[in-house]
Amino acid sequence: MTGKNKMKSIVKQLNEYNYHYYALDKPIVSDRQYDVLYDELLSLEEETNTVLEDSPSKRVGGETLKRFKTHKHITPLLSLDKCKTFEELRSWDNRVKKLLVEASDGLDYVVEYKFDGLTLNLTYDEGKLVQAATRGNGVVGEEILEQVKTIKTVPLTIDFVHKIEVQGEGLMRLSILKKYNETAEEPLKNARNAAAGAIRNLNPKVTAKRKLSAFCYSVGFIEEKSFDTHINMLDFLKDNKFPVNKHINHCKNIEEVISKIKEMEGEVEGLDYLIDGIVIKVNNISLRGTLGNTQKFPRWAIAYKFEAKEVTTKLENIIWQVGRTGKLTPLAILEPTDIGGVTVSRATLNNWEDIIRKKVKIGCDVWLRRSNDVIPEITGSVDEDCVETKQNLKPMKCPTCESKVFEKGAHIFCSNPISCPPQLIARISHFASRDAMNIEGLSEKTIRQLHEKLKLNSVADLYEIKYEELLKLERFGEKKAKNIVDAIETSKNCSLGTFIYGLGIPNVGKKTASDLAKAYSTLEDIKHAQYEELLEINDVGDIVARSIIDFFSDETIIKSIGKMISEGVKPHSERAEKIESIFSGKTVVVTGVFTNYNRREIQNVLEKLGATVVNSVSKNTDFLLAGEKAGSKLKKAQEIMQNKEGTKLQIISEDMLEKFISRLS
Ligand code: IVH
Repeated sequence: MTGKNKMKSIVKQLNEYNYHYYALDKPIVSDRQYDVLYDELLSLEEETNTVLEDSPSKRVGGETLKRFKTHKHITPLLSLDKCKTFEELRSWDNRVKKLLVEASDGLDYVVEYKFDGLTLNLTYDEGKLVQAATRGNGVVGEEILEQVKTIKTVPLTIDFVHKIEVQGEGLMRLSILKKYNETAEEPLKNARNAAAGAIRNLNPKVTAKRKLSAFCYSVGFIEEKSFDTHINMLDFLKDNKFPVNKHINHCKNIEEVISKIKEMEGEVEGLDYLIDGIVIKVNNISLRGTLGNTQKFPRWAIAYKFEAKEVTTKLENIIWQVGRTGKLTPLAILEPTDIGGVTVSRATLNNWEDIIRKKVKIGCDVWLRRSNDVIPEITGSVDEDCVETKQNLKPMKCPTCESKVFEKGAHIFCSNPISCPPQLIARISHFASRDAMNIEGLSEKTIRQLHEKLKLNSVADLYEIKYEELLKLERFGEKKAKNIVDAIETSKNCSLGTFIYGLGIPNVGKKTASDLAKAYSTLEDIKHAQYEELLEINDVGDIVARSIIDFFSDETIIKSIGKMISEGVKPHSERAEKIESIFSGKTVVVTGVFTNYNRREIQNVLEKLGATVVNSVSKNTDFLLAGEKAGSKLKKAQEIMQNKEGTKLQIISEDMLEKFISRLS
């Protein structure tokens, strides 16, 4: 084979591999196999000093351009009419049917994702990609051929030999963006900006580095060929190896369209590219002709837009709030804005470092994101050069009690946990909450009232509240006062786990609190727990163990706990107390059927009597409790007793067990 023919065959092979890898997402060779062949091509290109039109080496990005030249599209790129609700979509369907009159019998729809990237208009002639352009104003765009050649999903050559304009969307895959940002000096904010910035970059080598992808969804102009339906058009694109998205749905009527939209909307989270809605198109091309266009939109298509999850708005102020643990959290006050159908005027910023990192400034615009059911979060600033209207200062004292603050890790804390009101109220609220002491009627508002009017200054003070005092308060009647006093009284009889959880030890959640209560039988033991001992508890590591020890080293806390105990709070152990018996520390196997108990009851009793109940009989078994119809286990026990001299194994009956049980009650 001549050098040139060999090159042709390698290019063909590599393009086939690329098509499977990038457009179909189904590689057919390993990266290594690809690289070996690609290197061979590069050497041949050097040797022969020629580069074929469709060589993958053309995709690395050519010379930097001086400016973008303008490009007039053969067919103008219209934009899409939008709707936000299914009602609006149904009225669009009605409008379409009205316009088509009788022809509407043959009406069907195609439903596709609306990709959130940058529009590409690709021109091919004589089977070669000869031009690519941005949308611009729809009539005139900018030439971006060199940039688009770096997009590996866009074919450089196609089988179709006449002139054709193909419309599509340039995108950056989310996984590529993530990888890119891991090492990038200037992380890219989102995939849409990343794609737009890459394509509108005069240096195609920069475009190549961003590893863009594309999806093609329409033929705007074609010579010597026409299509009956959109589905035919997409098939033609696929045949010519254009990247066509696989989520294309053919629907018979608008109700089918709506149910498909619901399905597709649910799948968006799993996609590796950004979607900002769904496009619904009339499938039949001649019906499209009948419907025609308005000034701006085709009447034969509409975009069903998802609610935006990320918007920009002005940051009006940053205020600092104090939480239960004394942590100061910055709260962003925003110019109210609609995001996903909800008006948002506040958002979290996590801590001081977060504010610095995101470069947010008061008086300037910020990006705001709301994921499902999560408090809105500021993700960054829109214009880094914006001049702030008010200086954003790091707090030097607690915003509520004015005590000194200190820093720990990324966070700032108030140094006064005892009397700083928001901390106190949050702590008492937590203590009274349903998962902790479950004191009904003690809302945060009521606790604030009790703090202000009755000097409720600690959790322990709750147990000193008198019915008569409550009666004097605003919004308190006899019933409410009695209910609260009763609920406080009832809470005295609590489990050790809930009490520990209620104390609000930093880093100790419900699960750890309950594990502590199981590991130690009494509050006293927990108070004096040693670091090494604590580490042995499941999921307790250095931080949690230190938190527990620090907590119980605080004199004020110990005094407050002492006060609660003397007021009658009685946290009781969750560990069953064991009774000394002949079973203490012994291994017992249970077999057969019993007259008065079921297996579970028997096991509980034995465990209370100090036994460990196991499944199979061995020489280490101390007792076999045999009921009626005992089978193989009894046989095995008898064998052991016969063959092993001096064995400790004893067989006992239900009657004998009952004697012990009667001692339990
Ligand atoms: S069809 C005449 N299909 O949305 C309408 N457009 O607002 C031809 N877009 O600029 C467009 N995904 O860049 C169509 N599946 C899709 C699309 C899509 C994204 C973009 C396109 C266009 C804009 C219209």
